[in-house]
Amino acid sequence: MKVPLLDLKPQYEQIREEIEPELLEICRSQMFILGPKVAECEAAVAAYCGAAHGVGVTSGSDALLVALMTEGIGAGDEVITTPYTFFATVGAIARLGAKPVFVDIEPDTFNLDAAKLEAAVTPRTKAIIPVHLYGQMADMDAVMAVAEKHGLVVIEDAAQAIGSERNGRRAGSIGHYGCFSFFPSKNLGCFGDGGMITMQDEARAKKAVILRNHGSDPKYYHKLVGGNFRLDALQAAVVTVKLRHLDGWTAARQANAERYRKLFAAAGLEAAGKVTLPVAKTNRHIYNQFVIRAENRDGLLAHLRGQDVGVEIYYPVPLHLQDCFRDLGHREGDFPESERAAKETLALPIYPDLTDDMAARVVDCVAGFYGTGT
Ligand SMILES: Cc1ncc(COP(=O)(O)O)c(C=O)c1O
Repeated sequence: MKVPLLDLKPQYEQIREEIEPELLEICRSQMFILGPKVAECEAAVAAYCGAAHGVGVTSGSDALLVALMTEGIGAGDEVITTPYTFFATVGAIARLGAKPVFVDIEPDTFNLDAAKLEAAVTPRTKAIIPVHLYGQMADMDAVMAVAEKHGLVVIEDAAQAIGSERNGRRAGSIGHYGCFSFFPSKNLGCFGDGGMITMQDEARAKKAVILRNHGSDPKYYHKLVGGNFRLDALQAAVVTVKLRHLDGWTAARQANAERYRKLFAAAGLEAAGKVTLPVAKTNRHIYNQFVIRAENRDGLLAHLRGQDVGVEIYYPVPLHLQDCFRDLGHREGDFPESERAAKETLALPIYPDLTDDMAARVVDCVAGFYGTGT
């Protein structure tokens, strides 16, 4: 039995009848850029996230970029974030000429360790970007406390965490900005690239709206240099339709996580110290990924792929050790938890349509590798 890491085709079959007429309507209207479909999507996503405003943009990467641009962050500024994230988090900081300053992660959640945050603040620090990795929120209470004490802006990288909650508050509703990705593999994915910035503050939302359209306000008059960061109507329509199903899909991901926990317990793999399962801390974890730590991770990876089980490493090289950030002067050992996570972690299939048999097959194959199978 093949078990893919992600298969979106069954999901498309569930929503085909809702989505295809929407897409056809847009094709017939020939209204592709911004417009009412984007406005509808922005209102729906903002409300879902508990934010007052939503600004649709071209991608999650551009959501981060536009949020930083809205704050005027650039050369001479420092932005604190985690080195254990997708490249886009740190790429956005570097593209604006600002300096990424890293804080290591908590070993259990893989999120930025807020206890280490304040020591990284300098007179040049302008912002903090906590990342809600794999679908679980970072410790936002602690992040906001440091931010408020030092007058810093907080940009939540919620690309993997739409609908995630911590102490009853949603991702994208706590910081000054929430940045979301609609990349197809995300829990709320569109049919290409797309993203959204959520905000509570109206002035920030207005500025982001201007920046996503070349800083044009009114048309052809530019007080700011922005870019083309516009979300298109086709992607917005897909997101609006899919959003109605998101809670059901999240529940299916959570049920898959519970199923894995039972299967791994039955196989005795955690007790034997072979794997460590993800923890869900005072959170609504939305399981964009189900990431385990594994003994001999690379051996297990090769074994599972050899058995047609789709797995992936998110992420094999922490950002402080990437070639393009060599100028920051970091070396191995600077952020030991991030480096250890990069060596030990492995994402297993968790998508909503994963079946019981498929989950059992994954755990059987893991048990087979460690010689603990039944
Ligand atoms: C944590 C994180 N930040 C940012 C992004 C960037 O989003 P996008 O691929 O839509 O540009 C992603 C997704 O790829 C991500 O996982």
